Amino acid sequence: MEVIEKQTENSLQEKLISLVDKISIASVQDKKNLIKKNDFLLLLQNKDLIFDYTRNKANQIRQENFSNKIYIRALIEISNYCKNACFYCGINCKNQNIQRYRLSTEQIMECCKTAYELGFRTFVLQGGEDIFFTDEIICKLIKSIKEKYPDCAITLSLGEKSKESYALYKQAGADRYLLREETANSEHYQKLHPKNMNHKNRLECLRSLKNLGFQTGAGFMVGSPFQTLDDIAQDLCFIQSLKPEMVGIGPFIPHEQTEFAKFPSGDLNLTLFILSLIRIMFPKVLLPATTALSSINPEGRILGILSGANVVMPNVSPMEQRKNYALYNNKASVNEESAEGLILLQKQLDKINCKIDFSRGDYQQ
Ligand code: 5AD
Repeated sequence: MEVIEKQTENSLQEKLISLVDKISIASVQDKKNLIKKNDFLLLLQNKDLIFDYTRNKANQIRQENFSNKIYIRALIEISNYCKNACFYCGINCKNQNIQRYRLSTEQIMECCKTAYELGFRTFVLQGGEDIFFTDEIICKLIKSIKEKYPDCAITLSLGEKSKESYALYKQAGADRYLLREETANSEHYQKLHPKNMNHKNRLECLRSLKNLGFQTGAGFMVGSPFQTLDDIAQDLCFIQSLKPEMVGIGPFIPHEQTEFAKFPSGDLNLTLFILSLIRIMFPKVLLPATTALSSINPEGRILGILSGANVVMPNVSPMEQRKNYALYNNKASVNEESAEGLILLQKQLDKINCKIDFSRGDYQQ
């Protein structure tokens, strides 16, 4: 009996290996052979059988494309005001228990200065959907940063806007935009968001960003409430067809003042496995080892890189405000000075023979 079980396991493993290889081959054949949802699902269902193989392949592909370089991005959390009430997010507008803040233009410029002096050449402006930041203010800000730091890239992560607004940001000089789809399944989307938020609109935003020529980032949380492996397979298909230049994947982590407070965090290994699949699917993609990943495991960053990630986004927001930008609890590096954080990062990278790359690190075809 045991022998038969072992044989079945072996033949399943062979099938899984050939599937992972198929993803890799499809990635160099200009996506003519799209991977089917059921194939992704089979991999996800049997990840333990194929985990090491997938991770090694992803890590190898990362090295072939980026050698030992890890890109860094200076993350500036410009506002924790948000007009939305996403059920999972700690800065949702219903949360009365946080101190709200928004950085002034001067404060944001000061963050850029600190970051620039540390060697960063990408600034990521991230915030809740704060109506104070009108298109005019955002465009002015982009222009000021670009004028002062013409050699730097600007990434925005400011949520859903109209196509016209995105176009204005592009014109003003923004280079990249991060907007996770959160889930590719519209029914699942509705379990994570209030009725006034619309899945179709979110996906349209992503298409607009791509069409406008932004280096565009999509992605989702792993282990968000009600998510099934089938949903994740659907996200992988969605990402496969969108072909984003960046993909943000991190575990869901509960925030105590949200209605999802009692849900468990997303699984570390499942997150790492998905990072690897993404790297294999898109050898050149910009793939961060996210803060959420570091937050569920002290080695999260390193494990992320060894699974195919090639970007880290250290926080350079003003110290006084860090704790208030809590999308989830127990967020990593909240009390770490920017300079200190960078030294720590280099130390971590030394152990795996990687080093910080101080260039802009744009997506290369
Ligand atoms: N856990 C993990 N990630 C979260 N995000 C928001 N709330 C949480 C949470 N509780 C992620 C979302 C969003 C990104 C900025 O942060 O995916 O797109």
